[in-house]
Amino acid sequence: MRIINNIQVLSSTILILMLVVISGVNTLTNRMWLALSRTLVPYSRFPLLVGGLLLTIGFGLFANGEPTPLELFDERVRPIFQSEDPSSCVQCHLSSVDLKDYILPSHQQTFASLKAQGLIDLRNPAKSKILKLIQMGEKDSDEGARLIHEKTRKAEHKAFAAWIEACCKDPALVKIPAPESDAWAKPNRPDAVVRHTRKSRVVDSFVRSIWSQRMRCFPCHTPFELDESNPKHLRPIEKVAKFEDQFGQEHAQRLRLFKKSPEETLKHWIERSQRVPEGNYPLINIKEPRRSLILLKPTSKLPEKVNGIQKKASNAHPVSHMGGLKMHVDDQSYKAFFAWLEDYAKVVGGTYQSVEELPRDNWYPSKHMVIIEDAPKEWPDQVRVQLFVHAWDENRSAWEQEPIAFTQNSLTPKRRVAGALFLLRPQGAERAWRPEEETLPDGRYLLKVYVDSKQRLKSQPTAMLSESNFYGQTIVLGPWTKTFKDARKIAGNQFSR
Ligand code: HEC
Ligand code: HEC
Repeated sequence: MRIINNIQVLSSTILILMLVVISGVNTLTNRMWLALSRTLVPYSRFPLLVGGLLLTIGFGLFANGEPTPLELFDERVRPIFQSEDPSSCVQCHLSSVDLKDYILPSHQQTFASLKAQGLIDLRNPAKSKILKLIQMGEKDSDEGARLIHEKTRKAEHKAFAAWIEACCKDPALVKIPAPESDAWAKPNRPDAVVRHTRKSRVVDSFVRSIWSQRMRCFPCHTPFELDESNPKHLRPIEKVAKFEDQFGQEHAQRLRLFKKSPEETLKHWIERSQRVPEGNYPLINIKEPRRSLILLKPTSKLPEKVNGIQKKASNAHPVSHMGGLKMHVDDQSYKAFFAWLEDYAKVVGGTYQSVEELPRDNWYPSKHMVIIEDAPKEWPDQVRVQLFVHAWDENRSAWEQEPIAFTQNSLTPKRRVAGALFLLRPQGAERAWRPEEETLPDGRYLLKVYVDSKQRLKSQPTAMLSESNFYGQTIVLGPWTKTFKDARKIAGNQFSR
């Protein structure tokens, strides 16, 4: 029961956010609808009135007294569209699609449009595809979410089922000619965008991009990773306890950034981001993802000392972090955090319009470390470096075109570049790597190095460098290890050009 509650809370908060955003995004459409329906009211009520009168006066005038398609549309379908609330589709779709998208002001046009899109089954109205879309929510494995949206879903289904059933009995409607496809009422985003903006995809991406990196925030922000029975954890446990003493309970709560599960963590961050003191940065900054506290803190230094006393850490500009510098701007985790934050902002903001705008979102974390030592002299200080790993294609007897893994970091003063690999899901594949066990098979690989001498990554942190930034390559053999100690080391002079 506890778990169910938690899940419910999660969905509802993601939902709260979605609702806020969606209603923001859809206000225009909603307003148009409201304006339209207001102008339609006098006319639409008229036949209703007449119908009602006829019904009461002469029951026999109508064959069986069943409501007409128009009546059903006006009484049951239209209110759904005039409602400011999003439809049950938000259970899974954070933006880009709503049941309202399939409706036009007149019931004939709506029916013709649905029919033309193959969403109506004339012979078996109850099996119409639009009804199946509405029923999608019943199949959700997330019971909490299923329950939250049950009422809306059932109301939508009943309304549509009754109206479609009546339409399919009306010979004039059945024969209504199909409108041109540009007159169809449907989501104004391509299917790929609709799929990308789904809640489950956003959570999956969070797991790969952020949750997977949480050990970089150990032990201070990862209470559930602390294990009293592990002797190696005793010192970290003490350290966290000391922080809690130092900052007090309210603050100690804030230290617990990573919760038991990715879902709970995301829910916590979303809630926290909705109530932020004036001037402070939110954990997740939808307006300006780059200025999310979750990125700013670990890339900021300790607060200043004044007269030997450390000042309080700041959550406003300029941010300081009592944990000190824990992530370099432009290392592989920063890139992944950034990519997720930017994508999340665009999803909930409903800004994606076309397939070209969608990120590949195909990074899977691994523990394979690669370190370049004694970097070539011509690499400028602190330059950002990207490494791509290409597998050997036996069939073609050539290196694969598409890289299988990448990492990124900037050059340290000790002339080293170190990064853990993110494995890349190939284009078109649903999933490439098992979630917990991302490993590259033993074998022969080509390692290509790119150097960001033009500072492209400064303005586009999520970009991948291209041929014009290519520096050199080398072949690596053998198994991939999972510890920093056994990292794969490459000397700077090993790269052929
Ligand atoms: C239980 C979750 C869930 C609900 C609720 C849901 N959908 Fe979906 N929807 C999905 C999934 C999953 C996909 C992606 C299917 C795939 O990748 O093949 C999807 C994809 C889509 C697509 C893209 C086309 C396609 O087939 O991939 C459209 C359009 C769509 N849904 C419309 C709707 C509408 C309209 C509603 C509300 C009436 C709705 N969905 C409710 C889960 C849901
Ligand atoms: C050595 C301990 C330590 C590590 C490791 C650490 N932090 Fe912190 N962090 C702190 C302390 C102490 C605070 C509270 C004081 C402050 O705001 O800086 C804090 C505060 C924060 C806050 C502000 C929380 C709030 O609600 O005010 C964020 C966000 C944050 N850290 C992110 C991170 C991330 C992300 C990582 C890992 C990449 C990380 N920190 C690693 C000690 C640490």
